[in-house]
Formats: sequence, C-alpha cells, structure tokens
Amino acid sequence: MQEEEVPKTLKPSSPGFRDVNPLAAGVLERNGVKSWTKPAPSLYPHQWSWDSAFIALGLAHVDNRRATDELEALFSAQWKTGKVPHIVFDPEAPPKSYFPDAERWNSNGLSEHAPSGPRTSGLCQPPVHALAVRRIWETAQGKDERRLENARRFLRGNYPRLLSWHRYLATARDPERSGLVTIYHPWESGTDNSPRWDGPLDRIPIGEVPTYTRRDVQHVSDPSHRPTDEEYDRFLWLLELLKRARYEEADIYGEHPFLVKDVLFSAILVAANEALLEIHAAVGASEEDRTTIERWIERGREGLDEQWDPALGLCLDRDVLTGEPLRVRTVAGFAPLISGGLGERRVADVLQTLDSPAFVGNPQLHRPLPPSTSPGEPGFHPRSYWRGPVWPVANWLLWWSLLRAGEPERAHSLRHHTLEELAESGFAEYFEPFTGEPLGSGEQSWTAAIALDMLATEDAV
Ligand code: SER
Repeated sequence: MQEEEVPKTLKPSSPGFRDVNPLAAGVLERNGVKSWTKPAPSLYPHQWSWDSAFIALGLAHVDNRRATDELEALFSAQWKTGKVPHIVFDPEAPPKSYFPDAERWNSNGLSEHAPSGPRTSGLCQPPVHALAVRRIWETAQGKDERRLENARRFLRGNYPRLLSWHRYLATARDPERSGLVTIYHPWESGTDNSPRWDGPLDRIPIGEVPTYTRRDVQHVSDPSHRPTDEEYDRFLWLLELLKRARYEEADIYGEHPFLVKDVLFSAILVAANEALLEIHAAVGASEEDRTTIERWIERGREGLDEQWDPALGLCLDRDVLTGEPLRVRTVAGFAPLISGGLGERRVADVLQTLDSPAFVGNPQLHRPLPPSTSPGEPGFHPRSYWRGPVWPVANWLLWWSLLRAGEPERAHSLRHHTLEELAESGFAEYFEPFTGEPLGSGEQSWTAAIALDMLATEDAV
C-alpha cells in the first residue's frame, strides 16, 4: 500500500527556480504538527533529530517563529546526559504507523537519564542543530527589533542546551578523546543501510529479537527503496542489546558489538562547533566555554585527518573494535570538506575525488550530483536508501561546505542541479542517480528545507 503522495512534476521551472520556493514552503506547512514538523507525511510520523535541524534551517527563511518552535520541541526531550534523542514520539501519531515505537525503545522505563515527559528513542543523530540556530540568528539580522529580540532570547535559552549536547558527544561518545564520535547503531549515522556498516554488522551474530512488524515498507511504492529485512533484523538486535545495557554509556562501551567512529557525524560536529562559537559570541558566554569549543574543533579536525586514505582520496570511518578503517567509498568520505579548515592541498585532493568517475564525474549520472555510495562499490544499489541514491540533504552539506571552502563554481553546480532535480520531480526523499527517478517518500520535509536555504543564498556564479 502506498500512502505517500506521488511527487509533483513541476517542469519546466521558472528562471531562478522562483516557483520552487512556495512549493517547498507548502511541504513544510503540510507536514507541520503542532509546534514541530514530521519528516514526511506518513513514513516518518514523529519528530526526528537531524531532520528537525534541517527543517529549522529552512524555516528560518520563511517563519522564524516556527523555526525556533521546532528546535524548542526537540530540545525539550534532551536527555540529562546532554544527548538529543534521534526520535521524539508523538503520542497522537496514528497507531501502528511506525516501528520501532516508543514501547519498543522503552527509554524512560530503562534509563533515569531519559526525559520524564516526551517519550524518545535511546539513540542520537548527527548534530546539525547549531547550524540551524546560527541560521535563525542570521536571518533575524536587519529585521525589526521584535524579531531580533526573539532570536536573541532563543539563542540565550538554547546555547546551554547546545553546549551540553556537544559536550556529551565530545566525552561520552569519545572517551579516547580522538576527536571522532563513536556511534552505537547505523541509525545514529543517519545513513542507515550504507555499505559503510556492512563489515561491522556482518560480524555480529543475531540473537533473539522479539517479534516485530515493519511499518516503513507500507509507506513506499517498492520495498527495495528501503533497507532489507535482514538489515532490519540486525538493527533490531542492536536495539535489544542497547536496552539490556539500559542505555548506559559505559556499559555500552564495554560490551556493545557495534562501536564505530563515524567520520560524517564527527565532521558535522566540527562544523556545528564552529557555529556554536558564533552563538557563544552572540550571547556573550564565558571565556572558558570558548576555549573548550575551540579545543573540540581542533581535536575533531585532527581526528579526521588521521582517517584520511590517500589511495581512495577519502576519509574513512574506523571500527573501534578492530581499529581498522572501513574502506568503502561513500559520500561520508567527504567529511574533511564539511569539517573545514583544510590546507590547499587537501582541498584539491577532496575535489579530485568529488569530480572523479567514482562520484560526480560518473558519465552515466542523470545529473552531476553525488550518489550516496560510489557506483563502483560492491555494496552499491541505485534504488536502496543510502546504498546509492542521491540525497538532496547530502548535496546541501557539500554545497554549503564548498561555498565555505571558497569553491563557488562547484557549489553553484550542486545548487543548480539539486534545484533542477526538485523542480522536475518534486521534494522526494532521495533520487535514483542514473534516471533521476524520485524514491522513498514524497513531500520530504528536509528536501524542501534545503531547497529554501539554497534559494535564499545568492547564486553569484
Ligand atoms: N532512519 C530510520 C528509519 O528509516 C530510523 O531513524 O526509520
């Protein structure tokens, strides 16, 4: 049964993609639930952490109030440890619409660190939030005094929450002080079924998982767009193990079979810490905080540098349990571009890989946009979630990073082709790289949000 709307075909687009803006705003309007926004109309009926951050980033251009409400709702579910949970469950979502549900996670039944109010998952996701908070601050500049004051109040209220979130990642998730964040589950990476995780997952024998029914496959036209049942069994088994550890960090670190240093997550944290420094300046926080955040940035960049693989021209995740790098070419390998602060030489190396036939230079691509996994990888699949499709949200990360790295032409190309894809096929979750076919859910909120952010940025080239 397919419940999502078929993405609208908008071709041909108006000059400057002016028609995309109201359509993107409309997606966010329709997916709005009370003070926050669903990632998609029915596939994802609750609030997701990094989706919300991107949503707030887009909303900052159309409705600052909704943008701040979005993040307030998410941060109200922050754990006492500082962790921002990856899902905040909506008690009013249609029953049996998503699995694993709040009961399966049982976070507040198992952990004293979970919030007592909203029910949440026990995992987290990449920390894009400070980038969104900074965008809210930026878009309030030059506006009327009331809007500026609201933004200032929002920054003051949320700076401590962001700091404690980043501190959690820099400590509980990096006891080795490597500068790299350890994830406990592929869901934490946000790139669930990426072949990055095949090696570490293959080694894990699956134990007894209480019976379950997948709901996600009911919401897409073809189950091959989604992770396989075998992958789900592993995902659910890891969830059982985390529950047995009662979501206690030290216990997880001591016995969990999936502990991986995720370079994309870590690079986003570095970029988020840069944004946090600006937020810190705007709210006038302490000198001590500034030194701490600067140290996190430095450590993050050093840690990523150690994961650079010169032969592949990419940055690789590291399996904590074996100490080995995970040699798979995926879009996550561009992590150094996202963390920034690179010398000319490293920028040139990264761009060479980006332009190569392994990624954007592949002549068979429908548009020169990066496939989530290189088509040359054995684990590549052009229709399956993070195994190959093009994700607009990943395009945004690279576009934004290229602008920051002083590469306006490549940034322009990513922006142009992303907006063209959306204008042609609507705001799908992801796209088949060789045909441009929209896949996954239609009306995906973060796809609309990144379009709003790209459209708001002057295209100088
Ligand atoms: N991304 C996962 C899903 O598809 C969970 O966060 O359901």
